[in-house]
Amino acid sequence: MNRFNAPLQIGLIGAGRMGRSHAAAIASEPGARLSAIADPISKALAEELEVPHYVAPADLLATNPDAVIIATPNDQHVATALACIEAGIPVLLEKPVGVNLDEARLLARRVQELGVPVLVGHHRRHHPVVQAAKDVIAAGRLGDLVAINGLWLTRKPDDYFDSWRRSPGAGVLLINLVHDLDIFRYLFGEIDGVQAITSNRIRGFEVEDTAGLLLSFVSGAVGTLTGSDTVAAPWGWDQSAGDDPQFAQHPDQSAYTVAGTKGSLSIPQLNLWTYKGNTDWHHDLSMEVVPRAEGGALQRQLRHFITVARGQADPIVSVADAAKSLAAVEAVQQAAASGTQIEVTPLETSE
Ligand SMILES: NC(=O)c1ccc[n+]([C@@H]2O[C@H](COP(=O)([O-])OP(=O)(O)OC[C@H]3O[C@@H](n4cnc5c(N)ncnc54)[C@H](O)[C@@H]3O)[C@@H](O)[C@H]2O)c1
Repeated sequence: MNRFNAPLQIGLIGAGRMGRSHAAAIASEPGARLSAIADPISKALAEELEVPHYVAPADLLATNPDAVIIATPNDQHVATALACIEAGIPVLLEKPVGVNLDEARLLARRVQELGVPVLVGHHRRHHPVVQAAKDVIAAGRLGDLVAINGLWLTRKPDDYFDSWRRSPGAGVLLINLVHDLDIFRYLFGEIDGVQAITSNRIRGFEVEDTAGLLLSFVSGAVGTLTGSDTVAAPWGWDQSAGDDPQFAQHPDQSAYTVAGTKGSLSIPQLNLWTYKGNTDWHHDLSMEVVPRAEGGALQRQLRHFITVARGQADPIVSVADAAKSLAAVEAVQQAAASGTQIEVTPLETSE
């Protein structure tokens, strides 16, 4: 067995909720093997999976794994990823790429200088539904894109917040809505302006639990996104796309509605609505379901990461790309704080 068909030896840094999901994905992927885990607090997953445990990520890196997955709290992402790429080790870095644009820019620059690949874990981009939606748009079936609406509404358990998740660097924007903004960008192109209202009224933490966003795109299209981790509701990607069994699933409830001059699409159902004969509101609408490939986003992301780590593919979500989704979040934070419309800062990097 040569280096290219031996399973990729992957070290996991951060063995909490998401680290456990990555470990499960590795366990069902013949092309990968979990080599070791680093986590300063939790030994449980390493013991359960019978792999070496390290307290310090540096000690895991010293074992020279082929690649590393980072699933630490958000404010540890950039420092941990820098340590990996300085050691020449390819990284799958959980989202958000960083907690502010300055540190994301630093990471993007070092990725460019060192030439070590980093894939950012905006896993929804790997979901077959997202690719099918992108293909419908590219084929012109929606006409000129006019508007997108997104909902991410659920109630997280109170004890989930007995952690880093109540402090700056967390909040529903950086933990959840950054995923939605990333998909909006992927489907509609870059966001250039935002207005926003955020609230911490229900949980009372320093960070927001609820946000309402108004977005403009470079194309001239508009968007709205409403998110909250405090409410009883079935609407949101995690409840409908089948990516995360920890959420109650409601596959018939849409997360996004996309509207164009010729047609509109619900996601993830992929219900495509058009007026009969491409006409107007005096005519009936017809609905067809767009076909899509099978498969889960996390497993497909891992398969892609294996090819990225082996130098066979460029990351579908690079640091520079993910930094644009972070730039949108940062603009939302500024818009909410100032009560004004904020332009999204472009990212100066050629990665
Ligand atoms: N892609 C997704 O859908 C998705 C879903 C959930 C979480 N996430 C992201 O995954 C990351 C982890 O979230 P989580 O919910 O698993 O959090 P968690 O608190 O459950 O787990 C984090 C783990 O990291 C460990 N840790 C803390 N500092 C560390 C360090 N310096 N080095 C190594 N380990 C360290 C903690 O001990 C803990 O076990 C976050 O960035 C989060 O935004 C992504």
